[in-house]
Amino acid sequence: MKILLGVTGSIAAYKALDLVSQLVQCGAEVKVVMSQHAKQFVAPLSFATLSHHTVYDDLFEDPLAHIELAKWPDLIVIAPATAQSIAKYRGGFAEDLLGSILLATSKKVVMVAAMNQAMWAHPAVVENVHILTQRGVDFLGPMSGLQACGDMGVGRMMEVADILCFLPRYEQVQSLKDKTVLITAGPTQEALDPVRYLSNHSSGKMGYALAHSCYNHGAKVILIAGPNAQPILPFCETIPVVTAAEMRDAVISKIDEADIFIACAAVCDFKPNSVHAHKIKKQCDQNPMLSLQANPDILAEVAARPNRPFLVGFSAETESVLENAQQKFHHKQVDLMIANQVGPGLGFSQDEHELTLIHAAGIQVLPKMMKSQLADQIVSVLSSL
Ligand SMILES: Cc1cc2nc3c(=O)[nH]c(=O)nc-3n(C[C@H](O)[C@H](O)[C@H](O)COP(=O)(O)O)c2cc1C
Repeated sequence: MKILLGVTGSIAAYKALDLVSQLVQCGAEVKVVMSQHAKQFVAPLSFATLSHHTVYDDLFEDPLAHIELAKWPDLIVIAPATAQSIAKYRGGFAEDLLGSILLATSKKVVMVAAMNQAMWAHPAVVENVHILTQRGVDFLGPMSGLQACGDMGVGRMMEVADILCFLPRYEQVQSLKDKTVLITAGPTQEALDPVRYLSNHSSGKMGYALAHSCYNHGAKVILIAGPNAQPILPFCETIPVVTAAEMRDAVISKIDEADIFIACAAVCDFKPNSVHAHKIKKQCDQNPMLSLQANPDILAEVAARPNRPFLVGFSAETESVLENAQQKFHHKQVDLMIANQVGPGLGFSQDEHELTLIHAAGIQVLPKMMKSQLADQIVSVLSSL
């Protein structure tokens, strides 16, 4: 992927060095254009060294550079994007190289804004961002936190690792463009008393990988996540839940927005009949008995709805995996059922897994690979069904 990186005069300009370094390590070709003020913060030599390209900063040095650089990349990223650079782009000012490139390009532009929190909240900036967004410019961040000036608030440049999560979206085939995908991930926890619960070993890795892949393929993603330790996905709306009942309510509240529903969470099938108000005491002479009741079957409830979205279920099994998943495929009336063998060292919590996809057109085995790769394969099957 060819990326033109515009760097403007923000204290966060040092982060752009890491961004170039990481992009180059990921195989991208990066050319850097700096505003005159950006050079107050970071030396062009550093960008030239990391990008292995000349740094461009002068409109008049090469009379055709602004046109050639406007046509060269697959994507233009402005990081950090100052209030000034946002205002200039909105206003169509072309007195410097970056401004001229932005007017001359037909390529997608992503602005990673960074500024003081009061500047970001100023009506002029709010309006400029709004107008640019309407013109198809994407904004990443800014994020909330402590600022270089000591203020707390929204204005920090998004971290490089998070920016890197977003960029693959711009090089993938947008097979899920304009689709909303609702995904459940992770386990649920069913309380026994205020300190103990029933649950399972699901880590959320598969559901989060699917959320990532759906986003990269152009979808709007809503993630309903049971308790898990996965890093927050900055690009999707995440609704945290704990119990199966909460997950069910969250799904039902969002299902009408969804074109596709992927029920990946390992929802507890059962919950205790009653939750003790206080910690159950250890009694040496008596073992406590657990009395359980069934939790709602979220997938079945969604499947029974009129105008239901395209449905994908995961069938976690420890035995007769394919047979059980096939039975669920027919019984639950889903469009795609994914047979998922789980057990000690298998499935839950692992980075790699193997899955079998069952759909009307037949059965497809996805051999052992990283969950991120499995997610990409599932999304490409989804797009073809
Ligand atoms: C120390 C310092 C830090 C600055 N940081 C920012 C910033 O993070 N965001 C911003 O919008 N402006 C910031 N500014 C102001 C810009 O540098 C100024 O508006 C400049 O005109 C931006 O020009 P450019 O966008 O063409 O690079 C800062 C100024 C100084 C002196």
